[in-house]
Amino acid sequence: MINMVFLGPPGAGKGTQSEQIIKDFGIVQVSTGDILRKAVKDGSELGKLAKQYMDEGKLVPDDVIIGIVKDRLKENDCQNGFILDGFPRTIPQAEALDKMLKEDLNISLTHVISLEVDDGKIIERLTGRRTCPQCGRGYHISFDPPQKQEICDECNTQLIQRDDDKEETIKKRLNVYHEQTVQLKDYYGKQSILTTVDGEKTPDEVYKNIKDILS
Ligand code: AP5
Repeated sequence: MINMVFLGPPGAGKGTQSEQIIKDFGIVQVSTGDILRKAVKDGSELGKLAKQYMDEGKLVPDDVIIGIVKDRLKENDCQNGFILDGFPRTIPQAEALDKMLKEDLNISLTHVISLEVDDGKIIERLTGRRTCPQCGRGYHISFDPPQKQEICDECNTQLIQRDDDKEETIKKRLNVYHEQTVQLKDYYGKQSILTTVDGEKTPDEVYKNIKDILS
């Protein structure tokens, strides 16, 4: 059973690598960013609240995010293993995760993988990122372009750019990562479940390393 957390700065490749892992290992991806973006698109109360923070590159309050993950991990499709992508991002979130896994679900994390990418590369990656709003597949205009410009290979839908992938907002998100999220490497290092992976190699090379860790 694989119950893993993906750490890494915005744009490190967590979503890209998760697409491969879920295919090969038959587990689900729980992305708090995707859940929040869906809520924004649906215009729900959660979406209205989250949008204010996301547009500013800030973190959504811990109690809101913890409640979302707690409900999501109880669903049936998570019982065969999961990737937490984008959660936890603060020490209180990590402590709440430990507590909910132990007390509510009687399981523990098996792997925490931190993808390491320098800030300079992140801006290039995120300003060139495109996503399919229909099927969710991610692309990069230079490193992983679709066959037809701005059109999804899988479902022929016009690709979109995320609202928070503007250079100014990316810089704010990177600051938040260095101020609040990077501490989680120490937190999980002390639990001896952290592995770091060089995220600057090609997506296939990065995936090979991750597959070796998970196999
Ligand atoms: P979230 O959606 O989680 O964004 P993020 O962590 O900033 O990560 P990204 O999705 O931007 O990047 P990624 O690592 O998945 O990279 P990707 O694979 O796409 O969060 C968004 C917002 O929601 C937050 O700012 C916050 O407001 C809120 N939020 C979410 N979770 C929260 C929480 N727990 N607490 C509070 N608030 C929360 O790759 C990026 C690009 O690079 C792509 O174009 C890809 O094709 C390309 N690429 C990938 N790998 C490579 C490679 N090896 N070489 C070259 N290019 C590559």
